[in-house]
Amino acid sequence: MSFTTVKEILTGNYEDEHVFMRGWVYRKRESKKTIFLLIRDATGIIQSTIKEGSKAWKEAQRITIESSASLSGTVRKEKRAPGEYEITVDEIAIIGLAEKFPIAKDLSEEFLRDVRHLWLRSRKMNLIMRIRSEVLWAMHSFFRERGFIEISPPMFITSACEGGATLFSAKYFDRDLYLTQSAQLYSEILIYSLEKVYTCAPSFRAEKSRTIRHLTEYWHVEPEWAFADLNDVMQIEEELVSFVCKRIAEGCSKELEELKVDPGELIKIKPPFPRITYEEAVERLQRKGFDITWGTDMGFDEEKALAEDFQGPFFVYDYPKEIKAFYCKTYRDKPGIAMSVDMLVPKIGELTTGGAREDDGTELTKRIEESGLSLEDYEWYVDMRRYGTVPHVGFGLGVERLLMWMLGLNNIIDTIPFPRTMRRSYP
Ligand code: 4AD
Ligand code: MG
Repeated sequence: MSFTTVKEILTGNYEDEHVFMRGWVYRKRESKKTIFLLIRDATGIIQSTIKEGSKAWKEAQRITIESSASLSGTVRKEKRAPGEYEITVDEIAIIGLAEKFPIAKDLSEEFLRDVRHLWLRSRKMNLIMRIRSEVLWAMHSFFRERGFIEISPPMFITSACEGGATLFSAKYFDRDLYLTQSAQLYSEILIYSLEKVYTCAPSFRAEKSRTIRHLTEYWHVEPEWAFADLNDVMQIEEELVSFVCKRIAEGCSKELEELKVDPGELIKIKPPFPRITYEEAVERLQRKGFDITWGTDMGFDEEKALAEDFQGPFFVYDYPKEIKAFYCKTYRDKPGIAMSVDMLVPKIGELTTGGAREDDGTELTKRIEESGLSLEDYEWYVDMRRYGTVPHVGFGLGVERLLMWMLGLNNIIDTIPFPRTMRRSYP
């Protein structure tokens, strides 16, 4: 037997056709002589009606919300039904009868997080997960179309990429290792062979702060490529973000509308994005009354305030080297400034960090020592620079932050099926 999906019924030519379908009961409403069941499957929701006296009546009476079932019936045009079609059911077979479903209206966010394994069935989460998958696919397409090769980085690592404060340690037989914070240092190895590489993999951060934009495990897209400079980084970043926005606006317009996101706003995202230096950012913030001086890092509040000056994404570049990582290349004529860039977006702040990597072995050794790190931990990283070093760049983008911004979500935890934060690692 072949089954028809809800999407096929709502978008195809099925009027007056007899169909078989299967799914779960999303809502149930009863009147004296009719039972209305909203049936959901992976692709959508459709109304079905069961008349008293029909063969399906008894099972329709017995069936509960979230029960799984297969049913057969005739598709009819019905203006009042969601999607404007409904199924007049002649037979229902219950597959799994559900107990009383604990999720009803007006439940607290906390409770929904406790029952995440059930909440993921909601229409909202179905739509977000669908768009998440499309966003990932769009990013893969973008890099492949430009000749980048996807590589698989290790998750167990021996030394920090982004500072010791957010490293998770992991017991590894009789030694201590860490969980990766970024694939970058490993991707740098591969550019000597493949030139243009990228990763799409989890990164782990022991973030102790409770914020709307931090997870302890997030998905990180990180390209790295040879023979390029800071300007190329900004250019690829703005092209990537615009490409993803356009693909989602065009390919997921129905999903976006259901989530009350205007696809037109995403279509508007186009290169070039505004670019300001760190110095200008500090001046803007001072004018807004922030107590910030040159050399101080920006936090969430500063980034949000700065973003109010721009309608969409923008870049801040040329940071003091002290507030950027040891691997950042500095200008030879301005040794205090790192060739580093962040992309910021409204309401969330930082979406990416990238820049040029220190490709000179001697300079790199100096930077590692200055940063108080142990040279021994970075032996292989420096070693690469001895054999045919090249100028190279890269950046990292948090997939969940991108989704949060594109969909206007209030909290990062809604962008990933099983969010990990300091307080939550269940289910
Ligand atoms: O700014 P970060 O720490 O930069 C790096 O890891 C570089 N090694 C990337 C590179 O050049 N290859 O992280 C990059 C991005 C951030 O801009 C942010 O979008 C995201 O990763 N990110 C997080 N997302 C969710 N939860 C967290 N705790 C995150 N920490 C960083
Ligand atoms: Mg950063």
